[in-house]
Amino acid sequence: MKSPNKYFIGIDIGTSGTKALLIDSIGNIVLTSYEEYLTSNLKPQWSEQDPEDWWNATVICLSRLMKDSDISAENVFGIGLTGQMHGLVILDVNKKVLRPCIMWNDQRTANECKEMNERIGTAKLISITGNKVLTGFTAPKLLWVKKNEPEIYDKVRHVLLPKDYIRFRLTGEIGIDVSDASGTSLFNVKERKWSNEIIDLMNIDKKWLPDVFESQEVVAKVNKEAGELIGLEAGIPVVAGAGDQAAGGIGTGTIKNGVTSIVLGTSGVVFSCTDKYTYDTYGRVHSFCHAVNNSWHVMGVTLSAAGSLKWFKENVFHFETKNYEINNHNLYEVITNKASEIKPGSNGLIFLPYLTGERTPYPDPNAKGTFTGLTVKHNINHFSRSILEGVGYSLKDCFILHEAIGVRTDKVRISGGGAKSKLWQQIIANILNKEIVSLSTVDTAPFGAALLAAVGTNHFSDISEACSVSIKELETVIPNYNDTLIYKDYYEVYKSLYESLKSAFTDITNIENKLYS
Ligand code: XUL
Repeated sequence: MKSPNKYFIGIDIGTSGTKALLIDSIGNIVLTSYEEYLTSNLKPQWSEQDPEDWWNATVICLSRLMKDSDISAENVFGIGLTGQMHGLVILDVNKKVLRPCIMWNDQRTANECKEMNERIGTAKLISITGNKVLTGFTAPKLLWVKKNEPEIYDKVRHVLLPKDYIRFRLTGEIGIDVSDASGTSLFNVKERKWSNEIIDLMNIDKKWLPDVFESQEVVAKVNKEAGELIGLEAGIPVVAGAGDQAAGGIGTGTIKNGVTSIVLGTSGVVFSCTDKYTYDTYGRVHSFCHAVNNSWHVMGVTLSAAGSLKWFKENVFHFETKNYEINNHNLYEVITNKASEIKPGSNGLIFLPYLTGERTPYPDPNAKGTFTGLTVKHNINHFSRSILEGVGYSLKDCFILHEAIGVRTDKVRISGGGAKSKLWQQIIANILNKEIVSLSTVDTAPFGAALLAAVGTNHFSDISEACSVSIKELETVIPNYNDTLIYKDYYEVYKSLYESLKSAFTDITNIENKLYS
């Protein structure tokens, strides 16, 4: 029997704010705390945050957790960190931050990506790092600083990712885990170590890069200063942690071959675990080290999943908002109820969910959202349903790429805010023609980070035990045969639309840039 008085903390340095949660000895979430911060967008494609804001938010969240939970500090046995991946945090010789973090969703580095492809070769880059170099990844940002802010680049002595900067503030120690390192474009994902070859070709000083650890390894302890600030004991072990997607993979129990998870958040992530390094030679899906020893994960990302529904709620459906809020209805429920009045296929109205560009299968920042097939018989209810379906088709694109590189899916698990809708779950099951199982877990990334802390401090014998004790399956949704046939036909049309519209998307971007930048 596990000691009932042991608690673990997971901290997620997210894009909009920091979330910290406390779990008990059997993985129940006792309390969650959240604190927002701002993103600065100085230029159209820029996205930056001040690491000091993450630290302040972390201090507030942890202090609040300790104060409001009534749990005494000596019962906290470990801390795990996770966070937004790919962000560039650079420190000088005194370990002071040199400039704001250039974030994962920053798009300024198209030229630097091109330069890396030319210097290293696209095929070599993909085979070593498991991925195409994308504008959001870390290495091209370092190159951008070198070219555009040489006086800052000269002072660089440490290159960190967001969650690792917060571990540095908590413990004074610098390190990185294999999953987050996988998103830098400098990492040999198969061998789980920095790639000397790429680092040399990029003329980067290897001493700038942190030591690499497996995710559950204890790498440091909370220091006295941070402990006093937060109300925690000095000496609490802090594990290496993981990037938000790999930590989410732990939080959904996606830790062995054959299990695929869909996280239906702002973005939609299709995530599978593999026990050997598997990658797409064209780089259409991501391949990263998983936060489980000797495992990797393959991942496809629909950038605007529940984000598409949020856009619809706030920008199109808002004229209904007043009536429904007065009656205290949940607007998402209202929208999905309206969608349920419409037949599968939305009478031919097809939505492309590329509202913020796309990643999988088209890594194209210029891609745009569209409704195609509009006729006089369509009304707002059709729009509601076609959004749910368009996101489903996009998730199917990710599944098809997983299968194309030999990733097996025996079981699909679904979680995230969007998965609260039964209708959306059913639509996705019908589009994929697969059974899907819903999970009780919310906040999968900080939850996964807390489980990593519990494993790293030997509370659980391994990640498999941690997941089986703490993750509960709720319901299974079974595809409806007739609907799967309708969606099979419409998916073929959906698939053809991006190629037909691609050049129009680029033309629109060019005109917008000419007018407004
Ligand atoms: C993963 C990715 C996002 C960010 C922000 O590749 O870009 O998950 O980590 O959440």
